[in-house]
Amino acid sequence: MSSSTSTLFIPNASSPLFGCHTILLVVFFLSIFAFLFAPGGLAWALSKTRSKSTIPGPSGFPILGLVFAFTSSLTHKTLAKLSTTFNAKPLMAFSVGFTRFVISSHPDTAKEILTSSAFADRPVKESAYELLFHRAMGFAPYGEYWRNLRRISAIHMFSPKKISNSGCFREKLGLKMVNQVSSCMSLDGFVEVKSLLHFASLNNVMMSVFGKSYDDFGEVEKLVSEGYELLGVFNWSDHFPIISWFDVQGVRRRCRDLVAKVNVFVTEIVNEHRERRCLNDEVVDGDFVDVLLDLELENKFSESDMIAVLWEMIFRGTDTVAILLEWIMARMVLHPEIQARAQMEIESVVGSGRPVCDSDLPNLPYLHAIVKETLRVHPPGPLLSWARLAIHDTQVGPHMVPAGTTAMVNMWSITHDGEIWVNPEKFDPDRFMGEEISVMGSDLRLAPFGAGRRVCPGKAMGLATVQLWLAQLLQNFKWVGSGRVDLSECLKMSLEMKKPLVCKAMARV
Ligand code: HEM
Repeated sequence: MSSSTSTLFIPNASSPLFGCHTILLVVFFLSIFAFLFAPGGLAWALSKTRSKSTIPGPSGFPILGLVFAFTSSLTHKTLAKLSTTFNAKPLMAFSVGFTRFVISSHPDTAKEILTSSAFADRPVKESAYELLFHRAMGFAPYGEYWRNLRRISAIHMFSPKKISNSGCFREKLGLKMVNQVSSCMSLDGFVEVKSLLHFASLNNVMMSVFGKSYDDFGEVEKLVSEGYELLGVFNWSDHFPIISWFDVQGVRRRCRDLVAKVNVFVTEIVNEHRERRCLNDEVVDGDFVDVLLDLELENKFSESDMIAVLWEMIFRGTDTVAILLEWIMARMVLHPEIQARAQMEIESVVGSGRPVCDSDLPNLPYLHAIVKETLRVHPPGPLLSWARLAIHDTQVGPHMVPAGTTAMVNMWSITHDGEIWVNPEKFDPDRFMGEEISVMGSDLRLAPFGAGRRVCPGKAMGLATVQLWLAQLLQNFKWVGSGRVDLSECLKMSLEMKKPLVCKAMARV
């Protein structure tokens, strides 16, 4: 075989072909570079839809994009910093592997995204899918099935009447918590509030959903925590399709194990309801399970759909409330003058002869202001917990966002923006005493429950619970520190205190 056919032909430097090859090589590498380091990163470079105006944003690491922002526990802060650096507060583009993202850190574009029907879907993570949550409200695709769920839960679980009817039970749970705090103080001399709040919150949701309360949850609390962790964990499979074959992090396996246990637990409760309904035909003012069983009779719902819907309520309703109250209590310990003012307000409205109750809440504006200020400084969902998905190509500001893009709102960045809030780092409930700012989703300067079609359906119930329990805890105790209060954050599915709050509760006479 001649050498000219067996070896690669390399032109010598003086040959015109040499120049041609070099140019081609340079062009090849430049295009790879341009591809890998395009604004917004790889997933944006691969997008077929082109906008006239490029959305600014970091290219991140080649192929990986901003993966490491999402594996850290302070994703909201990293993204806030990047949107300032890239002058991209209204809209920033980035990639995580092959997933295309936009994020808004400004109330105007946040409103456009959250209230647009183009973003009424959610991206379904592998964990949500495996936990069957695509059949529950939070991850169900925008359409008839989801609308039905919203409608029935709005009537049968979250209506003002239902919330007010459950006030007595919330009061009982609050008083039980007060007793538990006293026992902790006499036994240990300190209180770790999170576990007490979690227990009360889980019981509260269990009652609304299953019509049942518990003295000891046993395994159930573990099931809720496991689901919470699985939904919050960064799963590489969601962004790198090849990896998803191997379940490297074991997320799929853990989800399947959990679903099996949840099925046993929820099916037992559903069967109890079925038996009760067989004995008395007419169910008067039943719980949420009864409502879903009626729908099952109309063939609108299967048993596995029902389990998914019921279980999701437990997940969503438990930790959010407990986490928010833990942040509030940390602030009460850190700001004794604010705590004392709230206690004075409770005394002036309630007097000292009776326990504070649900009907007192509308007369406690300073207490409301404390809750709002904590939602501003420590929003439980700084990135609004669950993102949105563009159903079709759509315009946000001057930019075209292609179908299939995951859209997020950085609520933490908005609530800490010095151009929107005076002295944003200061914890100051007084900022809400003069001006009426709603937290329910109409004012995007502070929308901790999201906004638009997919706004949190449990927001009124969550707020009623947090306000009542806070009033009860403040009426009964003066809260002081037991060591330094550490406000470090850790973002899982919600923004938690990295070090659980440990404090002392002195009985108030
Ligand atoms: C402090 C308490 C709470 C906070 C901060 C909170 C926050 C949120 C946020 C930010 C969203 C996403 C909204 C959006 O995409 O625009 C959401 C959705 C949701 N929340 Fe809440 N939530 C709380 C309490 C509750 C409670 C008590 C329940 C039920 C018992 C609940 C059930 C849900 C459900 C089912 C969704 C999904 C709605 C849908 O996609 O249609 N949440 N929540």
